[in-house]
Amino acid sequence: MSAFSHRFLCYSVFAFVLVLFFVLIHFQNEINKLRNDRQKYDLLIERYSQRLNEDELKSESIGDESENGAFAASVRNTGDDDTLIIYNRVPKTGSTSFMGIAYDLCKNNRFNVIHLNVSKNNHVLSLSDQSRFVYNVSNWSERQPSLYHGHIAFIDFSKFGVRKKPIYINIIREPLSRLVSYYYFLRFGDNFRPYVVRKRQGNKVSFDECVERKERDCDPNNMWLQIPFFCGHSANCWIPGNEWALQEAKRNLIQHYLLVGVTEDIHAFIAILESTLPRFFKGATKLYEKGVKSHLRKTYNKLDPLPETVEKVKQSKIWRMEFEFYQFALQQFHFVKQRTLISFDNLFKDKGNQFFYEKIRPR
Ligand SMILES: *[C@@H]1O[C@H](CO)[C@@H](O)[C@H](O)[C@H]1NC(C)=O
Ligand SMILES: *[C@@H]1O[C@H](CO)[C@@H](O)[C@H](O)[C@H]1NC(C)=O
Ligand SMILES: *[C@@H]1O[C@H](CO)[C@@H](O)[C@H](O)[C@H]1NC(C)=O
Repeated sequence: MSAFSHRFLCYSVFAFVLVLFFVLIHFQNEINKLRNDRQKYDLLIERYSQRLNEDELKSESIGDESENGAFAASVRNTGDDDTLIIYNRVPKTGSTSFMGIAYDLCKNNRFNVIHLNVSKNNHVLSLSDQSRFVYNVSNWSERQPSLYHGHIAFIDFSKFGVRKKPIYINIIREPLSRLVSYYYFLRFGDNFRPYVVRKRQGNKVSFDECVERKERDCDPNNMWLQIPFFCGHSANCWIPGNEWALQEAKRNLIQHYLLVGVTEDIHAFIAILESTLPRFFKGATKLYEKGVKSHLRKTYNKLDPLPETVEKVKQSKIWRMEFEFYQFALQQFHFVKQRTLISFDNLFKDKGNQFFYEKIRPR
């Protein structure tokens, strides 16, 4: 290699290193610039969100001053209140009158009421349908807060990995009287939708005759309904007479239901709901007392069964278990009612705040 080309190589390596050096410095500068910009933007975002919060607070207090208290309270809650109430109603328990009140209140109290209509009146959903239902109602922000009602068995939301659990409520009824009501409803319908042709329209067999002849419609196994509704979507829940199902129904009632009322005392049920969930049920008791909707639905041609018939039905294991569950719910309901309401002249009043805070530290 000649001396000239050797020197040329040296120069070009030197030049290359020099260029590399400047390129590195350039990128270092760019990186620093980007870092600074990011810090600036973070600061801006922080300030902006602070201002948003302040604005929200301001508009809330304006609302409080200019509107009456109740209205302002409900306005403030819309949008960020994702409370979800599920009323998985058992057929023929007087649920229609209660729902009438909910539909009357939803506009003023600003919540959504949605009926869940399940194909073929199934009370049990497929696993995939349960999952679709759970995710949909948890995520459907345009329809929150909401009250869903439908004839479905209890669904445990926590099984599907969602964090927020719904508030369950329900109403149950003495099992034989529910069965008799259902029996005549199938034959004669009711005053709520008198035009609907019922499954057993034209059948004039009374409940007493049915029990006498041991026909299918008055089979005690038909009473196995309130236990499985509270027990839920497990196989054992739907086996009439299953002991585990009864225990599971009791456990779910205590653990997952805010309140379970009884058909015989809807008035107190509504009064307790109003004092516990005023966001939804403010005004419900007054509506009920006015009687606008309280006697909305009456089954036609309903005959009370003869004492012999009642005796016969009470012999069955299914009635005894369902009645045990009903008694359990009733006891719980009375316990809650006694501690929540004052009653006078057939009217109810919330006992009001029975606690306060003190010794608040640090000062
Ligand atoms: C449920 O939907 C079906 C089909 O649209 C309808 O016939 C039925 O009346 C609905 N059930 C109730 C309780 O509205
Ligand atoms: C909303 O739906 C997504 C799936 O689409 C799910 O991952 C998420 O947990 C849902 N959110 C809630 C609160 O259920
Ligand atoms: C929930 O279902 C309704 C009705 O199918 C649909 O309009 C809504 O977009 C769904 N919401 C979510 C969050 O999936």
